[in-house]
Amino acid sequence: MKQLTIAGNWKMHTMPSDAVALCEAIVHHSSTANALSQGHAVVLAPPLTSLAGVVASCMGTGVEVAAQDCHAASSGAYTGDVSAAMVAALGATCVIVGHSERRRYHGETDVMIGEKAAAAARCGLVPIICVGELLQDRQSGNTNTILQAQIEGILHGLGQQPLTRAYLAYEPVWAIGTGVAATPNQAEETHHFLRTILDDGQGALRGVPILYGGSVTDKNAEELFSCQSIDGALVGGASLVAETFVAIIQAAIRVGAQAA
Ligand code: PGA
Repeated sequence: MKQLTIAGNWKMHTMPSDAVALCEAIVHHSSTANALSQGHAVVLAPPLTSLAGVVASCMGTGVEVAAQDCHAASSGAYTGDVSAAMVAALGATCVIVGHSERRRYHGETDVMIGEKAAAAARCGLVPIICVGELLQDRQSGNTNTILQAQIEGILHGLGQQPLTRAYLAYEPVWAIGTGVAATPNQAEETHHFLRTILDDGQGALRGVPILYGGSVTDKNAEELFSCQSIDGALVGGASLVAETFVAIIQAAIRVGAQAA
């Protein structure tokens, strides 16, 4: 049976009380419990200010909670940043690193992202490591070259740190928040390429599930999940409405059942 991961990235949305209400509506939905009992995974990534509240709401449900970023250092003079240990101490089990918005607005590089993933793993967190090409990269036929360079930089930043569990999220930048998702063919072709380069050799990212992100909705999730090399989704906008996010979870259940 195909086991999928459905992760919701809430970005800088939701006040603490809204976050807990959204979380409660998702975790107490019968489809969420069904998905988890069938081996799928559900991850919620609220803003840091809501992390503790969402962790409390998810307690005992099997739904995992992720932070949206962490610093690579364990402590230090980094005003405004939080370490992986701080995230773990709040009860989160995962952390997104290298989202394209972090790359774009905070100048994060592939090596830094690898270092963040290593810091996360040292603290027992599961890193969700994001990669993705710009529109001009795709249009000029450079998608694979760009992705390969991103992976190499990330592996360099990871160094010798083993990853017990991790995810790669393929998020084409042109598909994020635009309403223009990659077509299932485009996504499958790129995931297949990523699968091949991750599994080639002995790199730390060998075998990690690859999530697709970029304008995933309840309308396109089932088709994307049906692609052989797609192991789930990192959902932005559509994760902010409980019904839509639950509908995406239901799409995962259907695809899992078909592949059984
Ligand atoms: P989107 O965002 O689903 O709103 O396109 C995805 C993401 O940035 O993770």
